[in-house]
Amino acid sequence: MQTQNKTALVVGANGVIGGNLIDHLLTLDDWHIVGLSRRGGVSTDRVTYISVDLLDPQDTQSKLSNLTGVTHIFYAAFQDRPSWAELVAPNLAMLTNVVDAVEPVARELQHISLMQGYKVYGAHLGPFKTPARESDANHMPPEFNIDQQDFLERRQAGKAWSWSALRPSVVIGYGLGNPMNLAISIAVYAAMSKELGLPLRFPGKPGAYDSLLEMTDAGLLARATLWAATTPECANQAYNITNGDLFRWSEMWPKIAAYFDMETAPPLPMSLATVMDDKEDLWNRMVAEHDLAAHPYRAVSSWAFADGVFGWDYDFFADGSKARRHGFYEFVDTEAMFMAVFDNLRDRKIIP
Ligand SMILES: NC(=O)c1ccc[n+]([C@@H]2O[C@H](COP(=O)([O-])OP(=O)(O)OC[C@H]3O[C@@H](n4cnc5c(N)ncnc54)[C@H](OP(=O)(O)O)[C@@H]3O)[C@@H](O)[C@H]2O)c1
Repeated sequence: MQTQNKTALVVGANGVIGGNLIDHLLTLDDWHIVGLSRRGGVSTDRVTYISVDLLDPQDTQSKLSNLTGVTHIFYAAFQDRPSWAELVAPNLAMLTNVVDAVEPVARELQHISLMQGYKVYGAHLGPFKTPARESDANHMPPEFNIDQQDFLERRQAGKAWSWSALRPSVVIGYGLGNPMNLAISIAVYAAMSKELGLPLRFPGKPGAYDSLLEMTDAGLLARATLWAATTPECANQAYNITNGDLFRWSEMWPKIAAYFDMETAPPLPMSLATVMDDKEDLWNRMVAEHDLAAHPYRAVSSWAFADGVFGWDYDFFADGSKARRHGFYEFVDTEAMFMAVFDNLRDRKIIP
């Protein structure tokens, strides 16, 4: 028998993170789910999708002010912008608009979960202190993750609800049409290289090939997010969430090549955003020839993000032990995770 006594408002329901969180919530009997995004979705008896532009305060108010039953807000929306400074205003506005609309009417609100990342530690700026810890000092603004957390901390003061913040590394999971999707970037880059008869070349900076880094599986992140949102000890705290193992591309890349039945060749630094820009016709031909699901090239293109990740010629990892000390013990084998997400993309006929 289903006892749906909690209602999750998943903000950013089509995201790499939000979509996988909904998939996890669907495996649990006691959650009703409301998913927000501009694109919306097909509602079912468990998930109600609402199409809303969270940048528009009026639209947000009118579409969300009847959500009186929400007990948990899981915030994982994201607006991309060309510079770090430009990320702040829209991303802070979307969070503010959601909380302004829902908090006053959701009388049973228990928790607001905020999805962050290693930008909190300045990881996007250059070599940062590793392992990064939740207690590390903030860096020079602007930084939207920090402004969002400051907003929640101020808003929570004196309230019955609590907040938590999750800090994953690069998140690996299924998603389409997302600006930050490394898994699909690698898979489509490999498939197109193979189609052109090329070996799989690492396209990043030389120093990036040998640096230490880590990933966060989207399913693991979903389970950790729910854990932090429902464990009293986690109230009003931030947690690094990582797979639990480290790797170097120099070791992982040949394994990825082997998965795609390809040879490797020495790395060659190149901007994927540039060299993949003229490949739409090739993609369309591949979709027809390999009988792939008909997704437009832009839906599988996260090249600028991949360029960013492959440009990290410095160690990129955080200390994940705080979550373990507080009771979240799960880990994921990163090599197996990559192969599983590629299998998933093949099963869905997104890559040959
Ligand atoms: N992806 C990663 O590897 C990664 C790693 C670490 C941290 N993070 C952080 O996690 C958060 C979520 O990232 P993500 O990669 O999951 O993002 P994403 O895949 O780009 O998803 C963003 C979601 O927000 C929705 N959205 C965007 N603008 C909207 C608007 N105006 N109104 C309503 N919905 C809107 C999008 O749906 P529509 O387009 O349909 O509106 C989508 O569902 C970000 O803060 C990001 O920095 C991501």
